Amino acid sequence: MNAIEAIGLKKRFNLEAGFFARFGKFVYAVNDVSFAIARGETYGLVGESGCGKTTTARLLVRMYEADSGRILFDGGKTDARALDRSGLRAYREKVKYVFQDPSRSLNPRMSVYEILTAAMRWSPSWPGKRAARERAAAIMEEVGLSAGDLDRRPADFSGGQRQRISIARGLIMNPEVLVCDEVVSALDVSIQGQILNLLLDVRERRGLSLLFIAHDLKVSGWFCDRIGVMYRGEMMEEAPARDLYREARHPYTKLLYASVAADGSSIQGEVARADSELSGCAFAGRCPLAEGRCRAERPEYREVSPGHRVRCHFA
Ligand SMILES: Nc1ncnc2c1ncn2[C@@H]1O[C@H](COP(=O)(O)OP(=O)(O)O)[C@@H](O)[C@H]1O
Ligand SMILES: [Mg+2]
Repeated sequence: MNAIEAIGLKKRFNLEAGFFARFGKFVYAVNDVSFAIARGETYGLVGESGCGKTTTARLLVRMYEADSGRILFDGGKTDARALDRSGLRAYREKVKYVFQDPSRSLNPRMSVYEILTAAMRWSPSWPGKRAARERAAAIMEEVGLSAGDLDRRPADFSGGQRQRISIARGLIMNPEVLVCDEVVSALDVSIQGQILNLLLDVRERRGLSLLFIAHDLKVSGWFCDRIGVMYRGEMMEEAPARDLYREARHPYTKLLYASVAADGSSIQGEVARADSELSGCAFAGRCPLAEGRCRAERPEYREVSPGHRVRCHFA
């Protein structure tokens, strides 16, 4: 059963840069993106900086409003874009977003206790001060920190510990889906491993579904069950994580793996901004195989083998 499913999500932003605003210029940040995450599954989104991963994640948790498309939750029983206020509030407890950079997302003036319980405080499920304190203490232990640290402030912790606090904040309302947006990207490699292990533990223990966003293909390859590859706001390929390296079919995915082989494990590039509505393939301009058809006709996202989908005329 699917925990959450995106169907044809689209989001464009106004290019607010004063001069262009007058011409109605847009960035097509997410362009017809579809994927589903099964219960207990870890789904990886990869792609170069600027390809639309964060926007996709924020559409899912309803931090941004999609222009079109559907978000189905709980095996398709809930349409997350059609919720009323109280439905949306409940949804936001079930689908939680963990930010990339805890030093910016944790309020430096608040204590850890206040940070962990802030969302709960205004919710109908506020359990009272004593129970809230107990829950905060328990979640600290669960993420490998100490309940004795609840009255400290973010500045008293290391980068890895701050990311644990951020994850604890995501977990305290017992979500079903946790969206982890580059949660290890800013950390040293040794600390990355500890945070990834923590995520594996909580996933197991709680039966969580994870959306794991990273630009590191190696990490995503072993951490995730399935991977979706994005380029200029579009989903280009999706496959089981263990197969993607050997069986990549899209020229863009192959290019990513080739550049990883050349210089380490992460994707360094940045994609050109998609500032017009494309008629052809988003990758045609960079693709070594592109022909006239690729510039004229957008490829379908088709299944080439069970669980493996590719958006390319020639795959
Ligand atoms: N709030 C915003 N306003 C305007 N443009 C945005 C906004 N957020 C993202 N973008 C643009 O949308 C595109 C996708 O960005 P993003 O989703 O952050 O990509 P990624 O997370 O893969 O790096 C980029 O071109 C980015 O500049
Ligand atoms: Mg991002």
